[in-house]
Amino acid sequence: MTNDPAVTYGAYLKVDELLALQQPRSAGPEHDELLFIVIHQVYELWFRELLHEFDHVTRLLTADEPHRAQHTLKRILTILKVLVAQLDILETMTPLEFLSFRERLAAASGFQSDQFRQIEFVLGVKSEGAVDRFPEGSRARVALQRRLDEPTLWDAFLHYLSREGYPVAASHLHRHVTAPTEPSTDLQEILIDIYRADPKNAELCERLVDLDEGFQEWRYRHARMVERTIGTKRGTGGSSGAEYLRNTVGRNLFPDLWEIRGRL
Ligand code: HEM
Repeated sequence: MTNDPAVTYGAYLKVDELLALQQPRSAGPEHDELLFIVIHQVYELWFRELLHEFDHVTRLLTADEPHRAQHTLKRILTILKVLVAQLDILETMTPLEFLSFRERLAAASGFQSDQFRQIEFVLGVKSEGAVDRFPEGSRARVALQRRLDEPTLWDAFLHYLSREGYPVAASHLHRHVTAPTEPSTDLQEILIDIYRADPKNAELCERLVDLDEGFQEWRYRHARMVERTIGTKRGTGGSSGAEYLRNTVGRNLFPDLWEIRGRL
């Protein structure tokens, strides 16, 4: 840092601008709406940081730096744990407290978070429909389209394994990057070999399993929190609510890493 006197804590972090961004819509306003806004804004900031770190992991794998990639994956997992823990704060809000301002949300819902969809895309859960929901030319749509067309984290991992000398078939290395990550028996044979004889890469696989589990943990906790807050009511985003969310829980991001476990 230079000794520039203009660089203060407030100026560097733009605290005035930051504190002007929480604008409750309820009359009064209702006490709990500030918590609701703050927590969602904090999530969006963490989503931004996660995307920054995912880009870094991909670059590190592409540069054949597995130790640094693992280190970054650990940071990502730690952030995911914070994201899950934050739901505890929201659960201190009772259903009636939420109802006091819910109608002001109109159709707004986390369902419309483009950064959450970007994270899903990086992890291989892609859908063109999710891109089309955002207006042509908007920041969100441009970012999502880019991530739709980019290889996933799993693709970067398979390319890395191939350069490590593992016989990853060309059909995996040149697959269509928008397609879902399907389980594959030939990849599972490679992963079993790694777990049995290659501790460095087995560790990397374990971090990917941690990531898969951590992401599902968020989905599960969010679904339960929603059920306890709105029960069987429909979501503000237009879905069936808790039922829709329940169906997103338990889908593995990296199915091969789960398939092999019974055979190790
Ligand atoms: C009282 C608090 C909350 C309630 C009642 C709630 C409710 C819901 C509901 C019902 C949905 C399904 C889509 C819809 O029809 O709206 C949903 C989706 C979603 N929510 Fe929440 N939510 C809450 C807090 C949060 C927070 C704090 C976040 C953090 C960003 C969040 C992020 C999401 C995301 C990313 C989705 C899309 C999930 C998917 O499509 O797999 N929600 N939420």
